[in-house]
Amino acid sequence: MRVSVRVPATSANLGPGFDCFGLALERCNEIVVDTDTGSGIEWIGEGADELPTDGSDLIRQAMRRAIDDRHLPTFHMRATNLVPLARGLGSSSAAVVGGVAAALALAGEDATPQRVFAVAAEIEGHPDNAAPACFGGFTIVTDHDTVRRFDPHPHIRPVALVPRDLRLPTHQARAALPALVPRADAVFNLAHAALTVRAITDDPSLLVDALHDRLHQEARLDLVPQVREVADSVRRAGIAVCLSGAGPSLLAFPIEAQRVP
Ligand code: HSE
Repeated sequence: MRVSVRVPATSANLGPGFDCFGLALERCNEIVVDTDTGSGIEWIGEGADELPTDGSDLIRQAMRRAIDDRHLPTFHMRATNLVPLARGLGSSSAAVVGGVAAALALAGEDATPQRVFAVAAEIEGHPDNAAPACFGGFTIVTDHDTVRRFDPHPHIRPVALVPRDLRLPTHQARAALPALVPRADAVFNLAHAALTVRAITDDPSLLVDALHDRLHQEARLDLVPQVREVADSVRRAGIAVCLSGAGPSLLAFPIEAQRVP
């Protein structure tokens, strides 16, 4: 039996939608598990020279959480990673979602997006990346296990700006955030989050005004001042930009996308 799973990179937050918004991107990881070609793990692409081959990787961990090992046949796994690691593009969610889907399929169970999401969100802790990885499109997590999915406007064509040699683990980026936020900042984010939903689904011209945030971006950009410089210059050029997830990558929305009538 051979099972192949493709999972997209994802960008969480989209500025004001901290821990709620997510967008699926075009770049995908692929996992192929095969019960007819022995055992072992082969990594290709991002992280191939650093990911473990002893079964302790995130994909295998997710497979074990989805299906008891005793119900999994022996298999060989080839994982092609196109999503860069620890850059705010959902690499761990892609691994977890891919692992859960592959395990369910190997065990002959339904790997519906809803089922995969329920398991992956619990493993991940932050479901805002797992949601678009499972459902595609633009997603809003309204509660830990409740997702609404929307089609992005066809002119939404995000560009990820990925620092080649800079990583920012999510736990470190979260530790930098204050525990409490002033009410005025919460209100600011409510307004901009509402505008962002309209911008992504209906009117990309609103993105430049919408993608502002006072809950997480500033504290995180303090950790990576070189990324702040890039974000500032992209903004000065009139292009909507936000941190992708917890960073350090940025997600920019090219000019063409913002001039749609
Ligand atoms: N919403 C999460 C954060 C995404 O910003 O910390 C982490 O992948």
